[in-house]
Amino acid sequence: MEGATVNSSPELPIDILIDILSMLEIPDLVRAGCVCSSWHTAYTSLRSSGLYKRQQTPWLLYTSESVGDNVACMYSLTEKRVYRLTLPEPPIRSRYLIGSSNGWLVTADERSELHIVNPITGEQVALPSVITIEHVKPIFDDAGAIQHYELSQYYGEYEIGEPYILPLDNLRDDLYDKAFVFSDSTTRSFIVVLIHNPISQLSFARVGDSKWTWLPPSADYEDFIYLDGILYAVTSTGGIDAFDLTGPTFLRKVIMDRMKCSVYERMYIVQSPLGGLLQVWREQDVIPIVGHEDEAVPERDPLEIERETRKMMLYKVDTAAKNLVQINSLHNHVLFLGYGQSLCMRAEEHPQLKAAHVYMTDALRGIAHWKSNRRDIGAFNMENNTTEKIVPSQCWCTWPAPIWIAPNFAKMSSGLKK
Ligand SMILES: *[C@@H]1O[C@H](CO)[C@@H](O)[C@H](O)[C@H]1NC(C)=O
Ligand SMILES: *[C@@H]1O[C@H](CO)[C@@H](O)[C@H](O)[C@H]1NC(C)=O
Repeated sequence: MEGATVNSSPELPIDILIDILSMLEIPDLVRAGCVCSSWHTAYTSLRSSGLYKRQQTPWLLYTSESVGDNVACMYSLTEKRVYRLTLPEPPIRSRYLIGSSNGWLVTADERSELHIVNPITGEQVALPSVITIEHVKPIFDDAGAIQHYELSQYYGEYEIGEPYILPLDNLRDDLYDKAFVFSDSTTRSFIVVLIHNPISQLSFARVGDSKWTWLPPSADYEDFIYLDGILYAVTSTGGIDAFDLTGPTFLRKVIMDRMKCSVYERMYIVQSPLGGLLQVWREQDVIPIVGHEDEAVPERDPLEIERETRKMMLYKVDTAAKNLVQINSLHNHVLFLGYGQSLCMRAEEHPQLKAAHVYMTDALRGIAHWKSNRRDIGAFNMENNTTEKIVPSQCWCTWPAPIWIAPNFAKMSSGLKK
C-alpha cells in the first residue's frame, strides 16, 4: 500500500471487501486487517463469522537453537520466509511433536502428558492424562506423587510381553506414534485420535473427556483420517479399518484386508480432492557409506544412520472391490506427508507449490529413538524420484522433529459442548 492514497479512495462495500479478504491466506489476511479501519472491520467480521474457509498452504514448523525455547519457527512455502511465534509453557523445545491437523499441534511434555496447541491463536488445551490410557499405570512414591509409569504389553487379548517401568519423561519415547485433532461436526466437538504402543493401537478422546477410550482389538496402524464421523485407519500392511466414533459402541469394520506381507514402507492415507481415498507407500532406505574398495566398511554408530526417501507409490482405494489401483502420477496435485495429517491439494490453488511433488518430513516409526539423526525433509519429485531441499537443514534442530502444519484460526472454546 506504500504511496497509495488510501484515505481518499472510494470505500468498497463491506460484503465485497469480505469476499476479497476471504481468498487470502492467513498472513496476508492479518496484514490486510491492519490497512485501515474499514478493512479491519471486514477482517474481524470474517473471523468471527466462521466464513473464512480458505485452504492454507502448510508451513514447516521447527525449533531452533538460535531462538528462545518457547519459540516455534514456521516456514512459509508461499512467502519463502520464517515467522517466529511464541507458544505457551512448557517450552516447545522440551516437548515431542507427535502430530498436527486442522491447525493444531499435538505435543507430549516431560511428564509424557499431551497438549494440543494452536500456534496461530496461542490457545492450548490439556488432554486427558496419560495414566488414563489403557496400557499406562502410574507408580506412586511414598508421598503419593507419580514416580514412574508402567507400560503394559498387550493388544486385544494377546499378551506380547511383560509390562515394564519407565521414568516419567521416557514413556513418551515408547508410547506415542502419532496423534491428530479432528473437528466433529456431528457432535460439535473436537476429537483427538492417538496411535500408541504397544504395536501401534488406537485410542481417542473428545476434548473435555476425563479419559482416553481404547479401540481394541486390532493394532499395527500407521496413519488415519476422519471423514463424516468415520475414522479410517491404515495398517502397516495396507489394510484399512473403519470405526464409527459417533455411535455408542465403536465397532471395527474391515474396509480392506492387508495388501502385502512385508512391513517396509511407511504408509499414509489421504483423501483425494476428487473424492475417495488414496494410499501412499513411502520407501525410505538407509544411505550406504561410501568407502574405498580395499577398506573394510567402518562400523557405524546407529545414531549416525541416515535415511532418505527413494520411492513413493500411489494407490487409489477401490472400497467396492476391496482393492488398490496403482496411479502413475500425481498430475497437478501436491501431497504433504510426515508426522502431520496427510494432505492432498490441487497445485493450481497453491501456485507456489510444485505440482507432482510430495512435501515430506521424517516419519520413522519410533522416531524418538533417533533424535539426532539427519531429517529426511524436502520436496520429492514423483517424475524422477529425487528430493529437493526446501529449507536449509542447518536451520532446524533435529529434535523435536520438524512437522507440517496448515495454520488455522480454529478455537477450541467455540467447539466445546456447553
Ligand atoms: C529431476 O527433475 C527436476 C525437475 O524437472 C530437475 O530440476 C532435476 O535436475 C531432476 N533431477 C535428476 C537427478 O534428474
Ligand atoms: C521412480 O520410481 C517409480 C516407482 O518405483 C518407478 O516406477 C519409476 O521408474 C522411477 N522413475 C525414475 C525416473 O527413476
